[in-house]
Amino acid sequence: MTAGPSALAAAVRNEALDLRTLAERLAREAGALQREKYETRIEIRTKSASIDLVTEVDHACEALIVAGLHEARPDDAILAEEGRGEDRDDARWRWIIDPIDGTTNYAHGYPRFCVSIGVEYEGERAVGVVYDPLLDEMFIAVRGEGASLNGRRLHVTQESKLANALVATGFAYDVRRSAQDNINHFIAFVKHARAIRRDGSAALDLCYVAAGRFDAYWELKLRPWDVAAGLLMVDEAGGRTSDLSGGPPQRSGFECVATNGPLHDQVLAILHT
Ligand code: IPD
Ligand code: CA
Ligand code: CA
Repeated sequence: MTAGPSALAAAVRNEALDLRTLAERLAREAGALQREKYETRIEIRTKSASIDLVTEVDHACEALIVAGLHEARPDDAILAEEGRGEDRDDARWRWIIDPIDGTTNYAHGYPRFCVSIGVEYEGERAVGVVYDPLLDEMFIAVRGEGASLNGRRLHVTQESKLANALVATGFAYDVRRSAQDNINHFIAFVKHARAIRRDGSAALDLCYVAAGRFDAYWELKLRPWDVAAGLLMVDEAGGRTSDLSGGPPQRSGFECVATNGPLHDQVLAILHT
């Protein structure tokens, strides 16, 4: 087992608590926009592949969040999926924004999507906020302070048998053309776990592991904004996160395994068969 996340130093912790409040406000505002435009006629375009969508609401939410950060935190670095941030190496605080995680769901009117905002302090995950606007579920984690859902403390499950586990995953947008397509892993878990879900939002998948709704989650080829908030949520809810070899998750989050802890080695073993 890896050690749990260490607490932040006192001064940094107080600043992190302020940033949590700011992130929560911006996530609620972006979420309100998503609710307002949900199932209305919106502009939808493609990005890296014909199955990789972006909507006008992704852009509007990102613009809202980035404008709020420019006003409140002009010195911080911002990495935002749709390209509005200015990422910098010299800033202590770095915001990582997924304005809509679950864009395919959003575009199809499938009610599973969220706003995800992660904040790093000197390269370490410090704050994570994920907001599901349809369920009005606000997931919040601060390093060393625990994870919560609408103010209720979150804990991972204690399940230790993969045969009893509900497991989640997802597929990257290059699934049609890449040999590293996650399909064999998917089949293996269909055979070994109780059931498997592919619900279309990596950030919510991770929050659901933290909340004990899922026992485990893995995915390959993620981007930093997919996992910046959710990985901290799992760590702070007592779970375990790693890359496929069991080492710490890559900071950029390309491959990720997140479990309740007892299942971690079994999940890694399946991923290596
Ligand atoms: C995607 C979702 C999906 C995951 C993909 C992500 P997007 O993010 O998180 O669940 O399987 O890997 O790219 O495009 O909806 O922000
Ligand atoms: Ca995403
Ligand atoms: Ca997105």
